[in-house]
Amino acid sequence: MMQVLSVASEAYPLVKTGGLGDVVGALPGALSGHGIMVTTLLPGYPAVRAHIGDAPLVHHYPNLMGAEARILASYINGFPLLVLDAPALFQRDGGPYGDRSGADWPDNWRRFAALGRAGADLASGAIPNWRFDLLHAHDWHAGLAPAYLSYAPGPGAAAPSLMTIHNIAFQGRFDISIFPFLGLPPRAYTIDGVEYYNGVGFLKAGLASAQAITAVSPGYAREIREPAFGMGMEGLIRTRGGAVSGILNGIDPKIWNPQSDAALAARYDSHNLAMRRTNKRAIESGFGLTQGDGPLFTVISRLSWQKGMDVLAEQLDTLVALGGRLALLGTGDRPLEAKFRAAAGRHPGRIAVALGYDEKLSHLLQGGADAILIPSRFEPCGLTQLYGLAYGCVPVAARTGGLGDTIIDANEAALAQGVATGILFDGVSNESLANALQRTVSLYARRDAWSKMQVQGMAADFSWHQSGARYAELYTRLVQGRADLKT
Ligand code: ADP
Ligand code: GLC
Repeated sequence: MMQVLSVASEAYPLVKTGGLGDVVGALPGALSGHGIMVTTLLPGYPAVRAHIGDAPLVHHYPNLMGAEARILASYINGFPLLVLDAPALFQRDGGPYGDRSGADWPDNWRRFAALGRAGADLASGAIPNWRFDLLHAHDWHAGLAPAYLSYAPGPGAAAPSLMTIHNIAFQGRFDISIFPFLGLPPRAYTIDGVEYYNGVGFLKAGLASAQAITAVSPGYAREIREPAFGMGMEGLIRTRGGAVSGILNGIDPKIWNPQSDAALAARYDSHNLAMRRTNKRAIESGFGLTQGDGPLFTVISRLSWQKGMDVLAEQLDTLVALGGRLALLGTGDRPLEAKFRAAAGRHPGRIAVALGYDEKLSHLLQGGADAILIPSRFEPCGLTQLYGLAYGCVPVAARTGGLGDTIIDANEAALAQGVATGILFDGVSNESLANALQRTVSLYARRDAWSKMQVQGMAADFSWHQSGARYAELYTRLVQGRADLKT
């Protein structure tokens, strides 16, 4: 059986700040049907340590990037889990990347260099009794793992590596002064290695060193070749051309299925959509919203510029004027939180916000709201539109990245053909969003067309079935050494 080591900073249900956690958590299950065993390597954050209890020791590092560390073996969702337990680096109050105030930990380079080093040691066979056929690194946190494999592999035969970009905007860029502490040879500090704009780039290092690169949707794989989306990496992405592909994320039907979802007030399928009303009532009473004829919109999102939340905040009066209501669940930029709170104050009963992170509530909102708003400026894949589609919560989204790849816009032709699944708009601006809100409200009034859209979205298959097969194919090609190799 092929053995893959998946290295990441998040994996649901142990640690999740966004879609990365969902995807890394689902990957082992998505690949198991293909005869591939995925072992996940995570940092030993407090929640991860609490989950594994007294786990057996795999390896002891007296000094890993200046900290004592151990690798411990356990399980996540029934699949093998390795935990990098380094209390000095990971046992902290706050989030995986920063303290409670939201400020990044100043030693993030050291924390994630340690993760990369441990991943590379495992994947190069440097740790007795452990061997992997392939290393799969996710986002900048794991970006040094492929670089260590290629520049300082250790005694074993290095496995090939795959670098997946979940979000190219988060790059892990640090001052040049950290380079001597990374344990990489001087020749790694070049434009073909870890050097990035006169500093060290962790994602850059992974992209330059891995045998293959994937982005989390075909659309995003194309977009990041351009300056508007590549965020400085577009040149490198183009250079790696043939090694770059897009594989869409899937959703885990055990967690996201309206027929069996314990977080819902009422469960349903596409034959009894009327049951959604019970969930809607639960949202209305929980959020203190009045009932109304217009659509109930939801937002489940990081409140950030990427997500276009600043533009949405400007259009809330429009949303209400059109007869809509909004139940928002989100957390993020403090000034944006304040804007949404102020809008809720201006429109009691029409706009309500839950500022925080609440997994259970996110399910209820998908199960009861009419439409989910996703006005992202860029969206590598996006999962909330996929959950929306599966739950009959119609996505209203910007045509970018994975959103454009997964939603079929309700133009008249698509409606006539019965293939529409949502509303897409081009460019995130006050005008385009106002226009999309207007279109949504009009479509919602056409009850037949609306429910057809819901049913069509629920019939779309965004399970891991297809994407699991694509990863399996790519893994196999890499292991057999037939992938497009480094140019
Ligand atoms: P991103 O990873 O860029 O934040 P995605 O759409 O890929 O965007 O994934 C976001 C994930 O985080 C989804 O599972 C979504 O339901 C969840 N999520 C976002 N904000 C919240 C919140 N405030 N409470 C609960 N879940 C949230
Ligand atoms: C990132 C992206 C999001 C994607 C997720 C999982 O957080 O912003 O679009 O769905 O990763 O791949």
